[in-house]
Order: sequence, then structure tokens, then C-alpha cells
Amino acid sequence: MIEVRNVSKVFEGKQRVHALKNINLTIKEGEIFGIIGFSGAGKSTLIRCLNRLEDPSEGEIFLGDEEITSLNEHELRIKRRKIGMIFQHFNLLSGKNVFDNVAMPLYLEGKKKHQVQEKVKQILDFVGLSGKEHAYPGHLSGGQKQRVGIARALVTDPDYLLCDEATSALDPETTKNVLELLRKVNKEYNLTIVLITHEMSVIRDLCDKVAVIDAGEIVEEGTVYDVFTNPQRVITQNFVHTVFQNEIPSNLRSSVSDSKFYRFIFIGEKAGTPLLSEVSKRFDIHFNILYGSVTELQQRPYGNLFVTLDGDQRESEKAIRYIQDHGVEVKEVIANEF
Ligand SMILES: Nc1ncnc2c1ncn2[C@@H]1O[C@H](COP(=O)(O)OP(=O)(O)OP(=O)(O)O)[C@@H](O)[C@H]1O
Ligand SMILES: [Mg+2]
Repeated sequence: MIEVRNVSKVFEGKQRVHALKNINLTIKEGEIFGIIGFSGAGKSTLIRCLNRLEDPSEGEIFLGDEEITSLNEHELRIKRRKIGMIFQHFNLLSGKNVFDNVAMPLYLEGKKKHQVQEKVKQILDFVGLSGKEHAYPGHLSGGQKQRVGIARALVTDPDYLLCDEATSALDPETTKNVLELLRKVNKEYNLTIVLITHEMSVIRDLCDKVAVIDAGEIVEEGTVYDVFTNPQRVITQNFVHTVFQNEIPSNLRSSVSDSKFYRFIFIGEKAGTPLLSEVSKRFDIHFNILYGSVTELQQRPYGNLFVTLDGDQRESEKAIRYIQDHGVEVKEVIANEF
């Protein structure tokens, strides 16, 4: 569990920058928590406060039941073994091979050679890099370099993994593979992962929860499902729109004359079921589909359908209830509320 309480950060200097403003967050054990925001929003500052690479100007941060913000240098060094971190540009030592890069935290801890050998081998197997022990970072692809970064972060058996734009330097296919690896890390090591990104697709594909940071403030927070299906703030809506269309496209809006229609939100296997045709047969009503889209949310099909209903009101209500009973979320939309 990570608790961020009333954290603010001011960078003093020629220009005073108020980078974080009264941040409050609770991240549960085993959760994958994403923080999204534009460049300069304060993402790196926030994640760097979690392991005190940056000291907050105000507030407290708890990791488990330990207040990291009150530890002295010595205590902090010990605590940091429990907090792995990976970076956008990997931060590997170019003069050292893969084995030595991954082994470095263990050497620093003064571990015995055979213990180091065993542990590094096991972690390199886990991240899919066995056989690459003697390669140098300069000879690895971006995806392989990030695997080395992940292996190095995991080698001390941390409880937390902090990821600062860990996939931003990678192509989409490699990003997918690295995200899959992070999911495996989360499951098999029961690691709590905090990840910052400016890409909503990363949040969609990996995270359980998401917080949106804007100009140093958390402006929205919730489960990935809730935030993606019902974003409240304009900034969040814009982030959601970068990965899928969950509103009627503007060119279709003008053609909608009905004052009332429905948005059906399907998740999981139900997105594929021919529920609507079944409902049309079962009840004396008729659907007009105005617009629909299907995508993936947390690796499950996720669909939005905008429909109007023709038919008797009582029959329509029964049909809607039937659809809801089959696990589909139904929202009434008023045309002039676009
Ligand atoms: N060491 C520093 N000294 C002074 N100002 C800083 C320092 N680090 C960050 N800032 C400022 O704090 C604000 C937040 O920066 P931060 O690096 O946290 O943003 P970010 O969301 O990570 O951006 P990006 O997506 O570009 O990495 C920015 O205005 C930045 O200029
Ligand atoms: Mg940053």
C-alpha cells in the first residue's frame, strides 16, 4: 500500500515552480496504478517523490506502514531495495554487460558471488533474456534494454515497481511485449506497480486504476473501467478519445433528431453476443443503431452502442431491463446534452 498525503513540491530557483499541489493518493497492494498527464504536468516529480529521488516540500508518503518521508539516509538506502524503478531511457551502464548491469544492486548489497549468479540467472530467465548475459547494452534492441532494466529493478525482490514512461521510447509492438512482461511481474511477484505515462493506450492495456494529473494536481481518479466509460473532466475525455470513440462522432450528431436515446456499454464476452437481435425478437420493439464501436479495455472486448428504440413504452422499459440483467450498462442520453 502506498499513501500519498497532502504532498506538494516547489522547485526554488530563478523561477519558482509549483510542480505538485496537495496530492493525495492511495495505491493498494498488488495494484497496477497509472498516472497520466501532459508533458510538464508533474508526473516524474510525483513518482520520484515515492522513492525520495525527490523530496516533497510538504506532506507525507507511506510505503506499507513506513513513512518514507521521515527516513534518514541510511534507512532510506535499505528501504530503496524494496522499491524498483525503471526509466524511459533505461539508464543502463554501457560499459557493463547484461549480467553485471542486473547484478549491480546485489554487488552493492555485498551479496556472495554464488548467490548473485543464481539470482541473476533466475531473473534473466524470467524476463526472457537468458543467453544474453555477456551482451553489452549497445548491442541490444530497445525492448531488450528495457527487459534488462526490469531485471535490474526486480533483482532485490522489491515490493514496489515505479515505471517512469517505461515504454515511451519503444515501438507499439515492443510496447505490447514489455507491458505483458509487467503484467507477469505484477501477477507472479505480487508487485504493486506505479506507472506514469502520457499514453492512454498504456493505461488501457495494463492498469487497474488511473489518476489524471494536470498542472501539478490530480484532477480525476478511478478504476480504468469507470474513467474510460465515464470520464468527467475535459482533459480526461480528450485522453480517452485518443484511444477510442465513446461518443457519437460530431458529424453524426446533427442528424440525430430523437430527443432521447440510449448508450449501451458492453464489456467482456457480452460485447460479442447478439443480444440486441434476441431482445428485438423477445419484445415488441425495434432498435435503430446510430453508432457503435468495439475496442479492448483491460484485454477484454469493450463496446459502445448508441441506439434509439421504436415501440410501446412499457415494452421498451422491459427490454431495457432485460438488457441490463444481461450485464450491459445502459445510459439514457439526451440529444441536446452532447
Ligand atoms: N529539478 C527541477 N528544477 C526545477 N524545476 C523542475 C525540476 N524538475 C522538474 N521541474 C519542473 O516541474 C514541472 C513538472 O516537471 P516533471 O518533470 O515532473 O513533468 P512530467 O509530467 O514528468 O513531464 P514529461 O512528460 O515531459 O516528462 C515542470 O514545470 C518542470 O519544468
Ligand atoms: Mg517526466
